[in-house]
Amino acid sequence: MPRRSANINVMVRAAEKAGRGLIRDFGEVDQLQVSRKGPGDFVSAADLKAEQTVKEELKKGRPEFGFLMEESGRTEGSDKSHTWIVDPLDGTTNFLHGLPHFCVSIALAKDKEVIAGVIFDPVKDEVFWAERGIGAFVNSRRLRVSGRRRLEDSIIATGAPFNLHDESIAERFIEQLRPIMQQTSGIRRYGSAALDLAYVAAGRYDGFWENGLNQWDVAAGLLLVREAGGFVTDLHGSRYELGADSILATNEGLHDKLSQILVRK
Ligand code: IPD
Ligand code: CA
Ligand code: CA
Repeated sequence: MPRRSANINVMVRAAEKAGRGLIRDFGEVDQLQVSRKGPGDFVSAADLKAEQTVKEELKKGRPEFGFLMEESGRTEGSDKSHTWIVDPLDGTTNFLHGLPHFCVSIALAKDKEVIAGVIFDPVKDEVFWAERGIGAFVNSRRLRVSGRRRLEDSIIATGAPFNLHDESIAERFIEQLRPIMQQTSGIRRYGSAALDLAYVAAGRYDGFWENGLNQWDVAAGLLLVREAGGFVTDLHGSRYELGADSILATNEGLHDKLSQILVRK
C-alpha cells in the first residue's frame, strides 16, 4: 500500500471519529424501535453530531478549506479552490431501522474535480479510500473493479426513489428496472449510495446506477471507482461531473451495455 497522504490521514481520522460516535448511537436505536414515536429524532441528532465531528476534525487539519455538507450546506473557506464534500451518515434509513449498513463519506474537491475520497463503514470496520493518480484501497488492500463482461453474470446495485410526489420519477425507475432484471444475475438495493460505489470499486458489485443523487452521496465513491479502473458517467455515457442528475458506475466491459439499457427509458 502506498503511504497515505496528509489529506487522506486527516479524512480518515475525521471519518473514524464520527463513525465511532455513530456506532455508539446505533446501539441505542434498537431499543427505540418499540417506542411509539420511534427513533426519528434521535437519529437526526446522531446525524448532526456526526457532521459536527467531521467538520471539527477536518477544520483542525485544514483550516483554510471550504465545506459542502449535507446538513449544514456550503461554507466558504479562505482557500477558494478546495472544498470538503461530506455526507456524515449515508444510509440513514438503514440506521433508523437498525440495519447495519451505513457509512461516513468525505471527499476533497479541487475546483470541481474530486482529488481524494474516504468512505468509512464503522460496522464492518472498512476504510475505503482513494487518491487521484494513486489508486483505490480498502484498509491496506488495493481495489480493482470486477472483470465481468457479460450482463447475465453481473450483479447491479441501485437506489429506489421514495416518498415520491412526482409519478414520472417512479415510472422512469420502474422502466429501468425491467430490462436490468431480465438481463442480469440480480439487483441489489442496500440503501447507501456511497457504499454502493465503494462496492463497485471493490468488484463486489459489477455496476451501480441511480437517478437524482446529491454531490455528497457520490463524491468520494466516484473517485474510488475511477481509481479502481472503472467508468463513472451519467446514464448517457458522458463523464460524470459533480451535480449531474444521474450516475452510472461500472467496468469497461459492461459500461456501454448498461448505458444503452438505462438511457432508453
Ligand atoms: C441516501 C442513500 C440511499 C439513496 C438515497 C440517498 P442518506 O442518502 O444514499 O442509498 O438511495 O437517494 O439520499 O439520506 O441516507 O444520506
Ligand atoms: Ca446520502
Ligand atoms: Ca446523509
